[in-house]
Amino acid sequence: MKPLSYEVRMREKADALRKHGHARILAVESSCDETAIAIVDDGRIERANAIASQIDVHALYGGVVPEIASRMHVEAIDPLLEMALEQANCTLEDIDAIAVTYGPGLVGALLTGVSWAKSLAYARELPLIPVNHIEGHVSANYVAHPDLEPPFVCLVASGGHSHIVAVDHYGQYRLIGQTTDDAAGEAFDKVARVLSIPYPGGPLLDKLADEGDDHAYKFPRPHTEGKYDFSFSGLKTAVINQAHNLRQQGQEIDAKDFAASFRRSVVDLLVDKTLLAARDTGAKKLTVAGGVAANSLLRSELMRRGERAGLQVFMPPKRLCTDNAVMIGAAGFYRLMAGELARLSLNALPSLRMFDN
Ligand code: KG4
Ligand code: ZN
Repeated sequence: MKPLSYEVRMREKADALRKHGHARILAVESSCDETAIAIVDDGRIERANAIASQIDVHALYGGVVPEIASRMHVEAIDPLLEMALEQANCTLEDIDAIAVTYGPGLVGALLTGVSWAKSLAYARELPLIPVNHIEGHVSANYVAHPDLEPPFVCLVASGGHSHIVAVDHYGQYRLIGQTTDDAAGEAFDKVARVLSIPYPGGPLLDKLADEGDDHAYKFPRPHTEGKYDFSFSGLKTAVINQAHNLRQQGQEIDAKDFAASFRRSVVDLLVDKTLLAARDTGAKKLTVAGGVAANSLLRSELMRRGERAGLQVFMPPKRLCTDNAVMIGAAGFYRLMAGELARLSLNALPSLRMFDN
């Protein structure tokens, strides 16, 4: 009799896990400049969260250098597995399935994690689950709030994406609004550069802004056609031009006030549109995700104004907003429960989308 192929055997294993409703997932994330391996139980319980950040190296170049990112992922990934197993106090014998980010992101960086996860899954006879990085960000909320269930609205704001998403069921998303140009994180990073803040500028600009006056500088409010869409490119250009003009006139820029005024403009825009979307879709719960969700003003304004609008507001802790693999393990669990498995031909998809529209 012909032996069953790996894929058929994995389908059977995955079906058994689905029936049981439980799974310990080893998750891998390598889409940009963080290599991360996590172990997550049932999509909700963080057992291990091992991360190797490359930020210090890319900061030398003022941004992520893709070739360096890929090489550093290769170096970091094996030691991270050891670290994660140690944190969770378990061995590979205790792992039920592997989840891996296969897009969107840098192709070489993604390929490192995808190839590594495929090899491990094949060698250890474990089902492999493909995860969209953005879906991962949204799912960080499930770990932070074990009782949170869809439906809810989520503002996803990262270095490459800014979306308002309606999460109708686990793994079912409707795009409500999005940026028409730059992502919010990208705008933070570019304005930070004008203030000579090193890469990635977002977190440091946020700290600087805490000590500034957000009324000190006036910036234009960008207009967008779509009711729930954002635009950051015009604001970013206006802010950068204002900095250059002031410098040309020999005027000092107060970096704290400048950062605070810019942060206020971005946050007001994000919160206005998100609350409008939540109201118009009849949402009762609001969540936030992605690196920019670590922004302190965005967090406090979403909480304050969201609750005032009668919404229950949820957010992951800052450490689960920026890239990590815990969120991939959470998203992977719900993909597994929906019966979605990767084939061994799984490829990295740098422009992977979460929506059809
Ligand atoms: O989600 P993420 O870690 O990576 C992507 O998937 O892009 O997001 C990184 C982005 C960067 O642009 C970074 O500057 C921004 O999130 N970011 C922040 C803060 N922390 C990270 N932006 C504003 N305030 C922060 N505290
Ligand atoms: Zn991300």
